[in-house]
Amino acid sequence: MDAKEGHSNIKKQEELKRRNAEALLGGGEIKVDQQHKKGKLTARERIDLLLDEGSFQEIGRLVQHRSHDFGLNKIHFPGDGVVTGYGTVGGRLVYVYSQDFTVFGGSLSEAHAEKVVKIMDLAMENGAPIIGLNDSGGARIQEGVLSLAGYADIFFRNTLASGVVPQISAIMGPCAGGAVYSPALTDFIFMVEKTSYMFVTGPKVVQTVTHESVNAEQLGGATAHNVKSGVAHFSSQNEMECIQQIKRLLSYIPQNCEENPPELPFQPAQETRPALDHIIPSSSDAAYDMLDVITEITDPGTFFEIQARFASNIITGFARLGGRSIGIVANQPCELAGVLDIKASKKAARFVRFCDCFNIPILVLEDVPGFLPGTDQEWNAIITNGAKLLYAFSEATVPRVTVITRKAYGGAYDVMNSKHIGADINLAWPGAEIAVMGARGAAEIIFKKEISESADPEQKLIEKENEYNDKFANPYIAAARGFIDEVIMPHETRDKLIKAFEMLKNKAVKRPPRKHGNIPL
Ligand code: HXC
Repeated sequence: MDAKEGHSNIKKQEELKRRNAEALLGGGEIKVDQQHKKGKLTARERIDLLLDEGSFQEIGRLVQHRSHDFGLNKIHFPGDGVVTGYGTVGGRLVYVYSQDFTVFGGSLSEAHAEKVVKIMDLAMENGAPIIGLNDSGGARIQEGVLSLAGYADIFFRNTLASGVVPQISAIMGPCAGGAVYSPALTDFIFMVEKTSYMFVTGPKVVQTVTHESVNAEQLGGATAHNVKSGVAHFSSQNEMECIQQIKRLLSYIPQNCEENPPELPFQPAQETRPALDHIIPSSSDAAYDMLDVITEITDPGTFFEIQARFASNIITGFARLGGRSIGIVANQPCELAGVLDIKASKKAARFVRFCDCFNIPILVLEDVPGFLPGTDQEWNAIITNGAKLLYAFSEATVPRVTVITRKAYGGAYDVMNSKHIGADINLAWPGAEIAVMGARGAAEIIFKKEISESADPEQKLIEKENEYNDKFANPYIAAARGFIDEVIMPHETRDKLIKAFEMLKNKAVKRPPRKHGNIPL
């Protein structure tokens, strides 16, 4: 190589360095400072926190938009407002896109969308999760239909990827319009308190159309979506905590639908949990905390609750049992007596379907007085929504085990992973009450005449209530029919469950061929 060639090579390499440095700056120092002042990290800082050190490989760093309208031909930022690529979390491959609010407010252009689509396609072809770190003002307004088309390309892939690879969305800034529909199609949504918002139309449009005065936080902040709408599954105090939660979630789930979830080493031991023998109050209507049952049953410190702030009358979450990842659905007697209502049914149904997509065995802890009565529930379609949970359990082919800790009443007995809808092992504690309804309600209906004609109707009702209780409010009729496989002492529960899931680990069920079912949406 002569001196001239050498000089030319150095120049070319210098140009690459300059271009890379420019891309790493995003929207520039001023915008980065503004981002930090809001308590937000940059797109690249978020990726650094998420991925194992040094593992990130960027794809499309030098991509630029191709728009000429509204003066955009004079403004170009390499990367065009999104950082995309792949890396590892805990040594496992993930694909990631991270929107850069410092560039056009993270808005989505045609080129920006193409970058996201490229990594989604790679994720599906290579069977690894897709993590989207969203911080975007939605469709890039200057690009018109091209940005709408870009969104639709992403939505289409979100739908194709659903149930193939896990899809995780973190909302880390104001996300409007199209920027919320892609997350809505993914499996889990994480939000950050006070700095992240999701809405289809923002406060100004709301004011104009409905005359409601509401700020961004009230309309679509982390609390609104974790507590009221149920759109989001997690909320964090800050972005660091949010990213830690994403990593924790990943530790329970497989890379794709053809793998099993990662297992931790476990030394089997005959374990008893005596505290469980004293957990159920002596009065059948008194509350207790099902989270205490979960803590006793699962491997210490492993319960990871999903949607903890929404419909807390039902608990959903991942845990480990003997080192194995399981999904837990549990009625919560200390919230609305653990009743099934619309929100609880939808929350649990979606969780059951996620577990079934990704080969995660399901444990149901049941203490349910039935479905919530009332006009609000009926007119808002408890029938259709309750059917979602029924459908989700019936459809699931993963190992499924139920423990009835106390009440299993009415339709809720059927719905909550009963033997009849495909559960594999159904256990009950000795105090289980399995009946069409509570004893008082039942006595009032079937002994109506006898009670009203009695000299002392109240005394008669108590007598009949006791009679009904003696006859039906126990697990033995169901056990005699084989609907309950075993009535167990509460302290044996952990051991029984570890053995049941070990026995079921190779479960394989084939359903009749079809295009897809028609879940009551
Ligand atoms: C182009 C945008 C943009 C957008 C923000 N910016 N949103 N540029 N297209 N959609 C730019 C701003 O012009 C500004 O540029 C910079 O990003 C930062 O925005 P600010 O408004 O200064 O920030 P902030 O006050 O924090 O407000 C953020 C925001 C607001 C709430 C996101 O910008 C906003 O309301 N944007 C529009 C939201 C929206 O209506 N999007 C379209 C949705 S329709 P400069 O150069 O001044 O720094 C849609 C259709 C798809 O998405 C539907 C599919 C189903």
